[in-house]
Amino acid sequence: MTNSVFIATSLDGYIADRNNGIDWLHSYPNPDDCDGGFADFMERIDGLVMGRNTFELVKSFEGEWPYSKPVFVLSHSMTKIPDGYEGKVEFIKGELREIVQQLDQRGFKRLYIDGGVTIQNFLKEDLIDEMVITTVPIILGGGIPLFGALDTPRRFKHIQSQSIMGALVQSHYRRESLPD
Ligand SMILES: NC(=O)c1ccc[n+]([C@@H]2O[C@H](COP(=O)([O-])OP(=O)(O)OC[C@H]3O[C@@H](n4cnc5c(N)ncnc54)[C@H](OP(=O)(O)O)[C@@H]3O)[C@@H](O)[C@H]2O)c1
Repeated sequence: MTNSVFIATSLDGYIADRNNGIDWLHSYPNPDDCDGGFADFMERIDGLVMGRNTFELVKSFEGEWPYSKPVFVLSHSMTKIPDGYEGKVEFIKGELREIVQQLDQRGFKRLYIDGGVTIQNFLKEDLIDEMVITTVPIILGGGIPLFGALDTPRRFKHIQSQSIMGALVQSHYRRESLPD
């Protein structure tokens, strides 16, 4: 089982600005339509677990539903699947270790974990195995943080970093206890 993060942050560690905006992510010239390895990453996961806030954001995007893999939305407040999203998302809630175990039993062994609070909650439970973090050279000064407080450090091993679009730095980390 592998739980992976694939996310972009500002230099000061925010994944959305104070208004929940992510326009700053797309404010760099991208003439070759580079996806920063997102399609390759999506190929190697079985399903997504995202927080309700991230789901709301993706739902607000114009265009087609961006995921070809099953999406599990964590929420206490939302129980009814919005019209048009039947068969695309499933709502889940509860203790993260149990959720991951249940998904594993259903054959979802490689999960993409998305959303700030959600990633922080997975890290609290020491359930993140891999992180691909793209750093955008902007200091937002506030917003939704990628990381939060932890009782003890979580150690990761740096696998590689690359410059993308001549502007962003993408770094790949794996938890230290995992073999290469
Ligand atoms: N920069 C990027 O690449 C990137 C990627 C993804 C998202 N984002 C941004 O991040 C923001 C969303 O992140 P966020 O930190 O606000 O929230 P989030 O993690 O997307 O969602 C948090 C919500 O998930 C639900 N939740 C979390 N753990 C749960 C559990 N164990 N059981 C049941 N429900 C659980 C709760 O929903 P309820 O309140 O319904 O209970 C909670 O309020 C958006 O602004 C989005 O734009 C940025």
